[in-house]
Amino acid sequence: MPDKSGESRRITVSDIAARKGAKPLVCLTAYTTPMAQRLDPHVDLLLVGDSLAMVIYGMKTTVGVTLATMINHGAAVMRGAKRACVVIDLPYGSYEASPATALFSATRVMRETGAHGVKLEGGVDMAATIRLLVEHDIPVLAHVGLLPQKVRDKSGFRIQGRDDAGWKRVLADAQAVADAGAFAMVVEGTVEPLAREISETVAIPTIGIGASPACDGQILVTDDLLGVFADFTPTFVKRYAELGDEIEKAATAYAEDVRSRRFPGPEHCFKLEKSKT
Ligand code: KIV
Repeated sequence: MPDKSGESRRITVSDIAARKGAKPLVCLTAYTTPMAQRLDPHVDLLLVGDSLAMVIYGMKTTVGVTLATMINHGAAVMRGAKRACVVIDLPYGSYEASPATALFSATRVMRETGAHGVKLEGGVDMAATIRLLVEHDIPVLAHVGLLPQKVRDKSGFRIQGRDDAGWKRVLADAQAVADAGAFAMVVEGTVEPLAREISETVAIPTIGIGASPACDGQILVTDDLLGVFADFTPTFVKRYAELGDEIEKAATAYAEDVRSRRFPGPEHCFKLEKSKT
């Protein structure tokens, strides 16, 4: 069945790569089957982001999440996504030690989830790793700019490229991951002119988060956009709903109903069949 944009087949990593400079790529995070089912008709790419460490598991940063957890959530999202391209984050500690370590982890992710690619953070330092994964037919979504896996607490979430050295570093990272064969890259938390220069320079799509409309697409953490994750709302997030408030309203109404014995009502009860009475 065609989705809301008229697409009826699975969106591949090649389709994503081909969108450079074309219609903006629409990307969101998903961690569960029901959320993947809801988002799937509306997006090009679903990312099972390691942001789930903070959003689902209440951790202070993303570094606490394990490969096994990412695989479980990745498989759940794959069960719900029929059309979007699904990419799973390689978590902190599962790929940095060596290209061979990354290949081992990425192979597990691909084999145990059936996802279409993996994402990893880093630039020049990850070029050899990206090259090895791509040589082994594992599509890689790169991630440059602000790298949450390198952040040890909230104060570390700093916008990149405000000084000359930072600008040059992120630009070199973007070029390195593109040259290494990534099919697209997330550009996180950079000043707008840097995101623009990266997008104009590299041959693969840039997917921005806090990186301006100059990118070839956008991604947000779905729980931020829905107003469910309320610990903090970064400047770059636009809230499209306040589901956190709705959840509280529903819980309050349920509690009142239970306490006053309005719930369950007769319509929620199982009756004995007449023949048994
Ligand atoms: O983990 C994540 O959700 C991400 C996105 C914010 C890009 O990396």
